[in-house]
Order: sequence, then structure tokens, then C-alpha cells
Amino acid sequence: MKREVTLIATAAMGLESIVANEVKQLGYDPKTENGRVLFKAPLIAIPRANLWLRSADRVKIFVGEQKVTTFDELFEATKALPWEAFIDETGKFPVSGKSVKSKLYSVSDCQAIVKKATAEKLKLKHGIASKMPETGQLYKIEIALHKDIATWTIDTSGAGLHKRGYRIGQGEAPLKETLAAALIMLTNWQPDEPFVDPFCGSGTIPIEAALIGQNIAPGFNREFASEEWPFINHKLWDQAFEEAEDMANYDQGLNITGSDVDHNMIKISKDNALEAGLSDLIYWKQMQVSDLSVKQKNGYLVSNPPYGQRIGDREAVNKTYQELGLGLREHSSWSVYILTAAKNFEKYYGQKATKKRKLFNGFIETDYYQYFGRKENK
Ligand SMILES: C[S@@+](CC[C@H](N)C(=O)[O-])C[C@H]1O[C@@H](n2cnc3c(N)ncnc32)[C@H](O)[C@@H]1O
Repeated sequence: MKREVTLIATAAMGLESIVANEVKQLGYDPKTENGRVLFKAPLIAIPRANLWLRSADRVKIFVGEQKVTTFDELFEATKALPWEAFIDETGKFPVSGKSVKSKLYSVSDCQAIVKKATAEKLKLKHGIASKMPETGQLYKIEIALHKDIATWTIDTSGAGLHKRGYRIGQGEAPLKETLAAALIMLTNWQPDEPFVDPFCGSGTIPIEAALIGQNIAPGFNREFASEEWPFINHKLWDQAFEEAEDMANYDQGLNITGSDVDHNMIKISKDNALEAGLSDLIYWKQMQVSDLSVKQKNGYLVSNPPYGQRIGDREAVNKTYQELGLGLREHSSWSVYILTAAKNFEKYYGQKATKKRKLFNGFIETDYYQYFGRKENK
């Protein structure tokens, strides 16, 4: 029988259902909870999920979960877990921790206890008499306590999944790649339809759209912490990378434009797109939004304009929203999706959104204003 693991795809607040949908598309059965999506899967799901999940923050192995209220319980529960099934004889296993509303609130004590119990278990199972050498592969353990429920995980991703490897330059307020991908996946955009971001900054939204449009795995150009772990046969990683190569549709035509008032941002966008291997697939243009002229029908505008959170910026930002609204007024076949923290966006844009969704851009509470276009015959 194939070995199965339970995996956790961690998700930013508000993105859980999108991550769950992606897990389903990979062929697994997701269970959605606050901030995480759990799924049982064969080992190949570790490379697949890391390579393909566009909106998840990380992929972790779920090692165990149970109620603990004393340090003794934490020690015994940790020692009872099957660490040797994941961590090899030479593995390094640093322990990080967090505790929310729990009796065991001293995170450093919890970390030390989990470290000691894991080391004891590994020594016993691997037959090591002295100290664990910790000279080999890195297995980052996390002990997370929430309302006295302890969850033990091992991170398989390494750098967060938003680090696709293409962002070599960025502006003042870049969007996380995972959020940018989620914004696009919340639309019904199809790769052959026009797609525009008139406040593109470092180009994250157009680049993520192009990756989605050509079905390119977002993790294709990076490395993952678990690539050399002995319990995952390296052939599984090779297989997942080959699948990704086969599934990419480099012939898919795209019609994606990114523009920004700032010349420097356009240069950065071009450099990032080049790094992502998409250089001639996206049309970049220095332009202020007041010059936006929509010529095609049935397009999608997905953007993250300035929010005007600094008091002196508000007037200029309101004017920008007004200009955006004016540029799109006569184009009811376009669907418009705007992420902003500005509560008065609709007032200046000049229209109430069809739908709004609360999302967090880092720690900033934002609304995703969605205007659904009425498709027209071309
Ligand atoms: C929040 S940033 C966008 C960040 C981008 N999503 C990224 O990931 O890098 C907003 C962008 O709007 C641009 N901008 C501000 N006012 C503008 C205007 N009137 N017309 C076009 N772009 C404008 C800024 O130069 C900035 O790059």
C-alpha cells in the first residue's frame, strides 16, 4: 500500500476556500479550517502541492494534534509521535512555537520540551546512544498551541510559497504573489480574454496571470526544503517536476497588459517578467490611469491601486479612483476587481460593487471590490 501523509496547506485569513479549491484540483479531498486546509495524500502530494499551490503560504506535514495542559503531557505526547518516520538519523530539527489562549503560554519552554522529547524518540528509534548529530537535512518542527490544543508540524516548503523566485525588484508596497494569484483565481478570467492591471507596480498581478494563463506551476523556478529528504523518494520530485513541464501550455496566447505611472516600476516589472521566463508575453507600458483607454470587449481589470493611507495622499488617490471609474464607465462588458483599504472607493469610482470580499493584504484589512461585466458579442 502506498504510504499516506496528512498535509496542511496554510492560508492567509480569507483565502482558505481558494486554497481548498486548489487542493481539490490537485485531486485531494480538502478539509478547510481557519488559516489552514488539511488533506490526506500519498507522498507525491508533497512535491505536487509545493509546486502547484498558488495561493497557499506553505505546505506542512501534520504530525499530530491533541489537548495538552501541562509540560509533562506535552513531553509525553511529543514522544509518542512517529518522528522517525520523517526525520532521518542525521536530520537537523529546530523547533519553533506559538501559543494562543493556552495554559502552556511560555513558548520557549514548549519549544525546549518538544525538542527534548523529539530527540529522545529519534535516538531510541534510530539506535543512537549519544547526542543526535544534526548535521544533515533540515526539518523545521513547529509546536502550535491554540486553546490548549497542541499541533505538531514539519515544514516542507522552506521559503514561503510566495517566493516564486522571479521577484528580483519591487516597489514600496508589493502584493504577495500568493494574494495576487488568489485575486485572479477569484475572477472568471480565461487566458484568451484581455487582462489589465493599470497600477501594476512591480508587475505581480500580470505575472501571476500569465503563469495561470499558461498553466505554469508557480514553484517551477525555486527549491523546496523537502527536496532531498530521504523518506520522499527523489523520483517523486522528478516525477512532479516532469508533470509540471508537461502540463505547461506555452502555446496559450495571452492578452495581458501592466501599466503604471512610474517609469521605474515598469522597468522592475519587465525585469521580473524576464526572470519568470515571461518577458515577451506581457505588454508593459508607462501610463497614468487617466490615460487608460479600453478598446477590446469582455476584458478583466484586476488591480491593487494605492490606498491613500497617509493623510497627505488621500486627495490624489481619490482622484485616481475617479479617473479609473471614468475610464471604464462606457465599458460594461469589462469585469473590474479592485483591492483597496479605502472605505470610500465606490464613492470615487462612481459605482457600487456587485460584490465585496474582506481580505488581508499583510496586516492591512482590505476589501476586494468586484464589478461583474455583462459579456457582449465581439
Ligand atoms: C500598491 S502599488 C501596486 C503594487 C503592485 N500590485 C505590486 O505587486 O508591486 C500602486 C501602484 O500604483 C501606481 N500609481 C499611483 N498613482 C497612479 C496613477 N495615477 N496612474 C497609474 N499608476 C499609479 C504607483 O506607482 C504604484 O506602483
